[in-house]
Amino acid sequence: MSFIEKMFDQARKDKKTIVLPEPMDKRTYEAAEKIVKLDIANVVIIGTPEEIEKNGAGFDLSGVTFVDPFNDPNKQKYIDKFVELRGKKGVTPESAKEQMEKDYMYYACLMCKCGDADGAVSGACHSTGNTIRPALQLLKTKPGISGVSGFFVMEVPDCTLGENGLFLFADCAVNPDMDEDKMAEIAGLSAESFEAFVGGQAKVALLSFSTKGSASNDRVTMVANAAAKAQERFPQYMIDGELQLDAALVPEVGQLKAPESKVAGNANTLVFPDLESGNIGYKLVQRLAKANAYGPILQGLSLPVNDLSRGCFADDIVGTVAITAVQAQIAAK
Ligand code: ACO
Repeated sequence: MSFIEKMFDQARKDKKTIVLPEPMDKRTYEAAEKIVKLDIANVVIIGTPEEIEKNGAGFDLSGVTFVDPFNDPNKQKYIDKFVELRGKKGVTPESAKEQMEKDYMYYACLMCKCGDADGAVSGACHSTGNTIRPALQLLKTKPGISGVSGFFVMEVPDCTLGENGLFLFADCAVNPDMDEDKMAEIAGLSAESFEAFVGGQAKVALLSFSTKGSASNDRVTMVANAAAKAQERFPQYMIDGELQLDAALVPEVGQLKAPESKVAGNANTLVFPDLESGNIGYKLVQRLAKANAYGPILQGLSLPVNDLSRGCFADDIVGTVAITAVQAQIAAK
């Protein structure tokens, strides 16, 4: 069974309500129709009757719930919540209303925050920044977690490395500025995500261009310190670094370069030292190894919100909704 089929099965076990706030895009309706048919989530589309009529025509939308952001009986509750959360940042009832009507992602996050939905998926026609900023501002991080990051589950065909070709890569989406504390936290969150989504024991490698001191440089020290901090903060997980990619993945190279390490040669969870290498790395594997790349999936948020690529297909929205629904099940435990 493929990774995404596993997610569909899991999502069906306890159906969650997921909001799609992009009524201006036909892919939203195509995905909503499929989600209802697959029975993996309850779907809510935010949009005016005009937007829905214009873009949703021709799709079977029975079973989909629509929320009109200009005529919603719950709207005042969301405005009040917005002001409660962001009043200190200058948000007033007037500016809250305006922001929610202008940018439906704010509306979607407030529905989640007020318990009227379990998660949101957006980004088919918005940038990553514009998709996740409302979530960072309104939903915030989980208790004890300081930052949100984005991972991909990579499914590499004909590959025996990692977990039979399955890997988790992070951070590939969120943090342009990395430091050792952030990287250590991302290592722990990624281990947790791997075990929750892929299954099996996470073996987390913090990546560098050096293996265990083979090069000496501030960047190497950053990764080595991050590994030490992660091992101290998350003793329940197998985490090691700094490791080069080949030493992390290939048993013979791991044995040669880091013989003491239990992670070297066996890694299934790769933590990159900066957003450039993380973002470029997952795309290299996706394009050159023809891997399926599921994500970016945000980790560390108090409630699940996920981003889409603007080049996505309706099926990618369906997959991301299933993953978001599974995250919502985990968040509810
Ligand atoms: N975790 C938690 N909270 C965060 C994080 C984080 N990683 N980053 C910012 N925040 C919070 C801030 O604390 C702030 O909260 P506050 O308003 O309550 O004080 C709020 O989010 C806004 O923060 P800003 O510093 O104003 O950040 P900004 O909005 O400029 O940017 C963002 C945040 C959007 C995540 C930015 O860092 C970004 O654009 N990252 C790169 C996204 C990207 O382009 N990725 C590559 C494409 S994705 C792909 O290819 C799959």
